[in-house]
Amino acid sequence: MYLPLLLFLELGSHNVLGVGTGCLLVRFLRFRCESYFRCGSVLFDVKPKVRKADLFDFDEEFNRLFRLITNSLTRLIIVRGLRRTGKTSLILTVLNELGVPYVFIDVREVVRSRRGLYEVLSRALSDFLRRYSLRRALIDSVVKALSSVRGVGIHGFEVVLNWGRDRPLLSELFREFDRVSGDVGVRLVIVIDEAQRLSGPVGVEVWNAVAHAYDFLNNLLFILSGSEMGVLGSILSNPESPLFGRAYAEVTTRKLNRDESLEFLRRGFSEVGIEVDEGELEGVVDGLDGVIGWLTYYGYSRSVGGRDLDSIISDAVGMARQELENFIRLRASRRYRVVLRLLALDVREWGLLKRRLEDYEGSRISDRVLHDILTTLKRHSIIDENLEFTDPVIRETAREL
Ligand SMILES: Nc1ncnc2c1ncn2[C@@H]1O[C@H](COP(=O)(O)OP(=O)(O)O)[C@@H](O)[C@H]1O
Ligand SMILES: [Mg+2]
Repeated sequence: MYLPLLLFLELGSHNVLGVGTGCLLVRFLRFRCESYFRCGSVLFDVKPKVRKADLFDFDEEFNRLFRLITNSLTRLIIVRGLRRTGKTSLILTVLNELGVPYVFIDVREVVRSRRGLYEVLSRALSDFLRRYSLRRALIDSVVKALSSVRGVGIHGFEVVLNWGRDRPLLSELFREFDRVSGDVGVRLVIVIDEAQRLSGPVGVEVWNAVAHAYDFLNNLLFILSGSEMGVLGSILSNPESPLFGRAYAEVTTRKLNRDESLEFLRRGFSEVGIEVDEGELEGVVDGLDGVIGWLTYYGYSRSVGGRDLDSIISDAVGMARQELENFIRLRASRRYRVVLRLLALDVREWGLLKRRLEDYEGSRISDRVLHDILTTLKRHSIIDENLEFTDPVIRETAREL
């Protein structure tokens, strides 16, 4: 009884009915059916993976993270890697396989205001209550502990934190979780996903609380993940940062190599019973490189929507454009747009890059200006040390800026 309703909702939300062929419908039903019943793996499911059976490769990374979490000496773990290389999937899968309780703080956008921070925290706590709703002892202890903190409202599974003067301090919330963990006899994991997006004074507030918990609260383990490696790095290696000097362990996600990428696609298509010739797969890997998130997106769009590579890439470029525009919007200088476009057009030689930028501006610019722009792009992992784009889709997007 449940399934038809779910399928109907899914169909509506993906707008597949508009495509209108029976064949696509059958493929789609089969795809979702597999997702719901979890029979076998579903490599092309675009949500972050949460089960080991759905995680392609990355055994080494999985085992490393698994060992680190189970080692009682570990206090802080950094999971770093480019966007869409599987950080969230790796973390969630390991935590779910281990069955340890965790709070997942999902920083979806850059957060600069206290209000934004408290919204993110409220969502994380509500998700926590919902996720463990069947573990009564744990939930009862957490609800009791949180209710004792001023500025915390709990309605069913919904947690609302005040963000004004009577807000709960993050260090108080950590302390309560530490206490509950001690009482229940588990070590609680606190994940801050895309940690580098907590910036400015709000970031400092969070890192102060994490540093304090690191030093004094033994029942908590922190995992910070980040795709902007230089920015994440500065949270730990900048002497001004509250977390500076704390020991941490690191796990890195990576792009798949060519063979792995092809194998991923072959296996994914075989799961959904669609034949795709090798030539097409080679073309996909040429266009998308080994970024597993883009390969998954391609596999999903191709199996469900029956679309061709060009249209899928153009969609991916659209998604990446939004991300790049957000990045540019947060920067005062309009020069980022020009530099990104020039780099995408393979203008990478310093003198030439500077001249082209000066031509655009109609005036001289100092070396410093260009240096700062390139450094920022590297810190955000948009380009690497050789000024090459780290992600081919972002490069394509930058061409059209
Ligand atoms: N090991 C994996 N096997 C299969 N699919 C994966 C794997 N890692 C990531 N994906 C898929 O790639 C996409 C991006 O993964 P995600 O974990 O969100 O990456 P990140 O957190 O690094 O941005 C998602 O669609 C996810 O399902
Ligand atoms: Mg992620």
